[in-house]
Amino acid sequence: MDFKVADLSLAAFGRKEIHLAEHEMPGLMAVRREYAGSKPLRGARIMGSLHMTIQTAVLIETLVELGADVRWVSCNIFSTQDHAAAATVVGPDGTVDDPKGVPVFAWKGETLEEYWWCTEQALSWPDGAGPNMILDDGGDATLLVHKGAEYEKAGAVPTADADDPEEWKIILDTLRRSIETSPGKWTATAEAIKGVTEETTTGVHRLYEMHKNGTLLFPAINVNDSVTKSKFDNKYGCRHSVIDGLNRATDVLIGGKVAVVCGYGDVGKGCAEALRGQGARVVITEIDPICALQAAMDGYQVTTLEEIVGQADIFVSATGNFNIITAEHMAAMKHQAIVSNIGHFDNEIDMAGLAKLPGIKRNNIKPQVDEWIFADGHSVLVLAEGRLMNLGCATGHPSFVMSNSFTNQVIAQIELFTKTDAYPLGVYTLPKHLDEKVARLHLDALGVKLTTLTKAQAEYIGVDVEGPYKSDHYRY
Ligand code: NAI
Repeated sequence: MDFKVADLSLAAFGRKEIHLAEHEMPGLMAVRREYAGSKPLRGARIMGSLHMTIQTAVLIETLVELGADVRWVSCNIFSTQDHAAAATVVGPDGTVDDPKGVPVFAWKGETLEEYWWCTEQALSWPDGAGPNMILDDGGDATLLVHKGAEYEKAGAVPTADADDPEEWKIILDTLRRSIETSPGKWTATAEAIKGVTEETTTGVHRLYEMHKNGTLLFPAINVNDSVTKSKFDNKYGCRHSVIDGLNRATDVLIGGKVAVVCGYGDVGKGCAEALRGQGARVVITEIDPICALQAAMDGYQVTTLEEIVGQADIFVSATGNFNIITAEHMAAMKHQAIVSNIGHFDNEIDMAGLAKLPGIKRNNIKPQVDEWIFADGHSVLVLAEGRLMNLGCATGHPSFVMSNSFTNQVIAQIELFTKTDAYPLGVYTLPKHLDEKVARLHLDALGVKLTTLTKAQAEYIGVDVEGPYKSDHYRY
């Protein structure tokens, strides 16, 4: 088996944590039981690009139990938990000397070159074939296949311009090398793919853009906008892991501090609530009047970053947009202000601009924590080099909330793989009855007793006793 992880000897520790996580992931375990006999993913070759954590290991092993042949990478250079990667490679029945699990190409602290190399490896089966399904988080695997196929179709050699961003140059290098060694590889891969299931807000944006531009090559299920994903993982997951990231990185007392959260979407709402729970005075920045009004009515001050930048102690960017915290903002911050991003990509904070400021110095405190010292001697602390701090500086969301997200992922993979004809080229969300099913699978574990509608009540509100209970336009 081909794979590349940091240290296989970490597998035993990883396996112990996987066992603990399985108990906290009732949705995934219920799906395993439901499909134990039928193996609906038999014949599926799934390439996954999603943070290689303990929770993801439980997802991967669920896909394998359902019959899939899986290869995996992390979707971020800092988010891999090395013991989870090792345990996934060794597998439940293998040993360090005889690994029997899944080929994983991921370790904590990859370079960007290594990151894109890993992505290509996971997209390339040893028999020369590619995947027939992608499970993506942020859309990098989908992007590589699409760009590769685009260059092949145009008969053009992927070449970057000198002023292209560093990462784009690396992506084009990766594509150029692969097209030189296996011409037609990406076209064949794209043709073989039945579809992609996408985990996050940012990846979903990319898919809708491609569909709008007519460049989408295979159908997609938007897992993010299952209610049991974005209204849980993005909100309650970040409510947990934003504090974890801050604590492990800096251990600074949050109570009494002024914390700015940029963006009051699902992620921002979770972050703001958590910071307020720690006793911080939380300030929100927003561009959307609806979210700004929500934040105000939730009791937060809402203002612009320019107004608050010199008074705040902690900054968390949660917008999915770019250039939110600029180098000029950082230069205007208080001494040792903490600057972090919890959105998917690192461009929410202008790290390139910061590094170019005259007289700026970088003082590495420990992995994923840097003090950037300005020419006047004051400094800011930047977490995870501007990449998502909850996975870069801590261990991301806990198992229970990821069980909701990943149960949606598995159901979406089964839908696309087994009912391919029902999903012509386009971007879809799962039907509401499946969303409700995912929620239902998580109630017992929390001791929730659900009220059952009477037939008369169901008729009165115009739903079926068994659900779905809400119309598609209901917003939760
Ligand atoms: P969302 O779309 O619900 O919220 C983003 C908010 O930012 C919106 O309300 C938007 O109006 C606001 N915004 C956009 N530009 C802004 C600007 N210039 N200034 C202030 N506010 C601005 O998206 P969601 O689901 O909250 O996701 C945000 C990001 O977090 C995405 O990149 C997503 O992929 C990522 N994400 C990260 C997770 C993690 O564990 N780190 C988990 C889930 C999502």
